[in-house]
Amino acid sequence: MITPEKDNTLDSKTYFIETYGCQMNFADSEIVNSIMIEQGHKAADTPENADIIFVNTCSIRDNAERRVWDRLKYFRSLRTRKQQNKTVGVLGCMAERIREKFLDEEKLVDLVVGPDAYRDIPNLLEQVEDGRKAVNVLLSLEETYADIAPVRTTGNGVSAFVSIMRGCDNMCSFCVVPFTRGRERSRSADSIISEITALSEQNYKEVTLLGQNVNSYNDNGTTFAQLMYRACQVNPEMRIRFSTSHPKDFPDELLSIINEQPNICNYIHIPAQSGNSELLKKMRRPYTREEYLVLIDRMRELIPGVALSTDIITGFCGETEDQHRDTLSLMETVNYDLAYMFAYSERERTLAHRKYEDDIPEEVKKRRLSEIIDLQMKNQEAQNAKEVGKTHLVLVEGPSKRDENQLCGRTDTNKMVVFDRKDLERGDYAAVRITSHTAATLKGDVLHKSSIQEFQQHSAAPVLQHA
Ligand code: SAH
Ligand code: SF4
Ligand code: F3S
Repeated sequence: MITPEKDNTLDSKTYFIETYGCQMNFADSEIVNSIMIEQGHKAADTPENADIIFVNTCSIRDNAERRVWDRLKYFRSLRTRKQQNKTVGVLGCMAERIREKFLDEEKLVDLVVGPDAYRDIPNLLEQVEDGRKAVNVLLSLEETYADIAPVRTTGNGVSAFVSIMRGCDNMCSFCVVPFTRGRERSRSADSIISEITALSEQNYKEVTLLGQNVNSYNDNGTTFAQLMYRACQVNPEMRIRFSTSHPKDFPDELLSIINEQPNICNYIHIPAQSGNSELLKKMRRPYTREEYLVLIDRMRELIPGVALSTDIITGFCGETEDQHRDTLSLMETVNYDLAYMFAYSERERTLAHRKYEDDIPEEVKKRRLSEIIDLQMKNQEAQNAKEVGKTHLVLVEGPSKRDENQLCGRTDTNKMVVFDRKDLERGDYAAVRITSHTAATLKGDVLHKSSIQEFQQHSAAPVLQHA
């Protein structure tokens, strides 16, 4: 008798992943894609059309979690008479935080998978079919998914995220990430370089290396600076970005590599969180305001023209008006190109939750946050005004959101530019002269198609100043 080969398309299902949170979660969804496709399942275009809906979730602030609860209620409502078997799975950081309780909660969820357990998804889906509880929230000391090639279905085909490490050991007192993502571990440098090489062969033009603190990357002695050097050698026409860097450990060696290598972008995300040393100590951020400012000066000294961005938390436990003003004055002093600004949201299990009172009233947090945002918008507007007249090398990402006939792309310094389509295509580099600005975007005229190397030959830095 001939036994037919197992055809896994027989029980092929359609699935949809909705992703919230940071870039690492988006990168993880690409791992899950890969696992699902390997099993013979197919991506659906909407959650409504999918047999299986995964929500890759974020726990960083309460409002991030509330959005997910609303979505889960909506997804449950899709379980109509016709589609009794729709499966809903929670992935990511909330899965790790809420765990089994998800299954008890109004039967909203059928499976719960933490960030280190995605390889178990095929088994867990079988358990759901068998009517069993399907939960795996084990955190791992080793898992980096190094051997799984991510399947990128939602990006622009030009820039890709590459996870280089997982977890976080920093234990900032406000932050839930060490509890949802577990211990810090670095992925092997060789596997990172082969992923970047594969992306280059697929014509990707930009990769962003991701980790909660990339500066502490360490693969058997290979440092982040060494990894960056290897990464930028893969293809001189491929841009390398990275995120996030912790101010506590930024070596000069890394700053020099960023400056020297034309395809490493001159943009650093360097979250301050607060401008007051006492509050920083309470946040368990091991640097003072003064040390942070010395680092910023060093960055600007070693990388002329570098663009800087930050994360700021306002209304942390016990924050006084004076301490709030210190944050405003830090922002005034540094003059960031971009900032992500948040009101403090207390998270269970964190040191701040155990030790300090979340005592700043909501309306005070709101007022302080709007002062911080207003200042940042004013600074950004002034920063962008200075760009008018300069020429930047822009990597074309695709059509502009506002106007299909225009294209958009980013400068090396991560500023979004909108310009006429001309003969340009997604993935091209162009020299673009900036003609006008808002706080959020620049507009420019395309001078000509270009490349990193050609543009570099015309200027020492990747910006040309016109008289
Ligand atoms: N690993 C990164 C940050 C990841 S979380 C780093 O250390 O820079 C992204 C940002 O969310 C943090 O930088 C912080 O500004 C903010 N954040 C984290 N926990 C928060 C909380 N409990 N309330 C408000 N904002 C928070
Ligand atoms: Fe959270 Fe701090 Fe780790 Fe960033 S470095 S993820 S803020 S604990
Ligand atoms: Fe959110 Fe988890 Fe990222 S809590 S910010 S998705 S690491």
